[in-house]
Amino acid sequence: MNILLFGKNGQVGWELQRALAPLGPVTAVDFDSAELCGDFINPEGLAETVRRLKPAVIVNAAAHTAVDKAEAEPERCRTINAHAPAVLAREAGNLGAWLVHYSTDYVFDGCGDRPRLETDPTGPLSVYGATKLEGEQLIRDSGCNHLIFRTSWVYAARGANFARTMLRLARERERLTVIDDQIGAPTGADLIADVTAHALRAACGRPDLRGLYHLVAAGETSWHGYATAVIEFARGLGEDLQVREIEPIPTREFPTPATRPLNSRLDTGKLRSTFGLEPPHWRQGVERMLTEILRR
Ligand SMILES: NC(=O)c1ccc[n+]([C@@H]2O[C@H](COP(=O)([O-])OP(=O)(O)OC[C@H]3O[C@@H](n4cnc5c(N)ncnc54)[C@H](OP(=O)(O)O)[C@@H]3O)[C@@H](O)[C@H]2O)c1
Repeated sequence: MNILLFGKNGQVGWELQRALAPLGPVTAVDFDSAELCGDFINPEGLAETVRRLKPAVIVNAAAHTAVDKAEAEPERCRTINAHAPAVLAREAGNLGAWLVHYSTDYVFDGCGDRPRLETDPTGPLSVYGATKLEGEQLIRDSGCNHLIFRTSWVYAARGANFARTMLRLARERERLTVIDDQIGAPTGADLIADVTAHALRAACGRPDLRGLYHLVAAGETSWHGYATAVIEFARGLGEDLQVREIEPIPTREFPTPATRPLNSRLDTGKLRSTFGLEPPHWRQGVERMLTEILRR
């Protein structure tokens, strides 16, 4: 199958270049690609790219992911996260192609402590969450064959992420304060890409499998638990870290422009039963990523 990948240099996009390769020829573009438009600020330019390549599958890993910045630029965020994916959905429908897209735990309001199902009511608390939800809805309403994966707390060996930030701060400071009342699952971009490839292979030719799936690693933790695990594992690898104390703090003591949900738990039962896949525990991927970046 002929695949067109947008957002090739993001955390997930980079891993998709690897994971999708065995499925067929992959044309991967970014917002500044020279020959083909991959800029999500220009949705009709994306449509041109799709019409030129006529892919069997469009995979969209591009997004406006700067959650706090989004509060100050809602229209730009909406174009990238909702309008442009809707144009890709329209073009996919016209071609009879599949569209793969990613969404977020931030579509929920974060109340309670139960892992959220795909069918649970949404209630985004931020511009980012609202625009990602609108993108999902526009794709679904287009009627094209689609797979939308909602994920959370994405990290990768490449690029900036929470674990890397914690390592940098742990080298510089003796004391860190980290939020302990937001609960979710750190999920590797490599896992997301690999599950995407497996699911896509199963879904092509099976329009009944199209829809929305929650895709996160198993287990759960807080940002404080995540930071503690990162620092302890890095120390075990021999990293020289200054930090002596990691103090847990509630979200209200760390105000940010965007409000984040406290409960980011996502139930992966639908993904597991539909595709026969078992996401591993979050620690497994985080420890692998740390070994990769610290033992070069
Ligand atoms: N990161 C998370 O924690 C997280 C959590 C839940 C869901 N998700 C979802 O997972 C998917 C993949 O996220 P990710 O973690 O891989 O994010 P990422 O690393 O920020 O990748 C997004 C990519 O989109 C690019 N982009 C930004 N503006 C663009 C534009 N106008 N045109 C084309 N590309 C543009 C970014 O480029 P620049 O880097 O140059 O801006 C980046 O390469 C997204 O749909 C995201 O909403 C992410």
